[in-house]
Amino acid sequence: MSDNAPPPVRFRPEVLAVPAYRQGATPTQPGFKLSSNENPFAPLPGVAAAIAARGDVNRYAAAAMPELRAEIAAEFGVAADHVHLAAGSVAILYQLVHAAAGPGDEYLYAWPSFEAYPALGLASGATPVGVPLTATAEHDLDAMAAAITERTRVILLCTPNNPTGPALARADVERFLARVPADTLVVLDEAYREFVTDPAAVRGEDILASSPNLVVLRTFSKAYGLAGLRIGYGVGDPAIFRAAASVAIPLSVTGIAESAARASLTPEARAVHAERVAAIVDRRDRLGAGLRELGLDVPDAQGNFVWIPETAAGGGGVPDALALGASFAAAGTLVRPFAGAGVRISVGEDESLAVIIEHVREFLAQLGGAA
Ligand SMILES: Cc1ncc(COP(=O)(O)O)c(C=O)c1O
Repeated sequence: MSDNAPPPVRFRPEVLAVPAYRQGATPTQPGFKLSSNENPFAPLPGVAAAIAARGDVNRYAAAAMPELRAEIAAEFGVAADHVHLAAGSVAILYQLVHAAAGPGDEYLYAWPSFEAYPALGLASGATPVGVPLTATAEHDLDAMAAAITERTRVILLCTPNNPTGPALARADVERFLARVPADTLVVLDEAYREFVTDPAAVRGEDILASSPNLVVLRTFSKAYGLAGLRIGYGVGDPAIFRAAASVAIPLSVTGIAESAARASLTPEARAVHAERVAAIVDRRDRLGAGLRELGLDVPDAQGNFVWIPETAAGGGGVPDALALGASFAAAGTLVRPFAGAGVRISVGEDESLAVIIEHVREFLAQLGGAA
């Protein structure tokens, strides 16, 4: 049967019109998988044992997970009821957009950004509004403020921006928040916060107290290396999360994920975590520098990924992102090309750096040299 065959039963046409989320490529041969911004390190010490010790899988986990929420809340200096857990931070994005934006409402985000954003509210009938990034691949906060209408219900700020890399400055976010109506939800998606080294960058905990309409999202998927277990969290007003919980799929955070997250927050695990984050940041900076030496205009990279823009010849990028992605795949390295926009390369194993830089050098040479 063709992939385009209609279902045998009636569905809402607006749902059938929504393309399903497409995951980064998965490997079919040995090589580097640098297509999903994953952590190349195994889970932190103590995590595998905590998972193995969690024997009670015949029971539903107690959904409140008070200890884990209290531990996260302490980091943010808030009470535990300000912390909301879900099966990945992407689940909270869905919950918030569904809870806030229905037919005729709009939700706003910069574009290109996290690929899940455009479809978040389509099934609820809301209209996605993507505001183009600036020429330096950053959020255009002035244009985003200008795009707010009385129909705007949610604004998503992705910092550092996946896939392009720059982080939002705290001062710019504060100026932006002052222009947002107080009853409009703003989501600061900080999935990659732990990798940020720019001291001017915003940190959710610094601005939460002064912004009651703000929710900060973080995840155990990236810096903590628990992507496969699906656990992320939001921090903000408990009343916002009660609304999110009303549209959440019940009981979707597993006890195994809870135990793994708690084991990742012990002092011993945190020490190793800090070392690993530093190693990934070092690799990121070396990878960015190596690509810039080839003449590429790689934007400031604050996450665990770097971005090669698609540009006309001589414009500091590659002329065809899909072609670069395909040539990497043919050589056994999976990266994430975005048609017409650029190529995102996740920071992985140390040995991958030289392979990537050499591959891009050869790709550019075949094109005739100049980036
Ligand atoms: C910006 C951003 N937000 C959220 C997520 C979702 O992460 P998770 O659902 O694994 O917490 C991702 C994953 O790639 C992301 O890039």
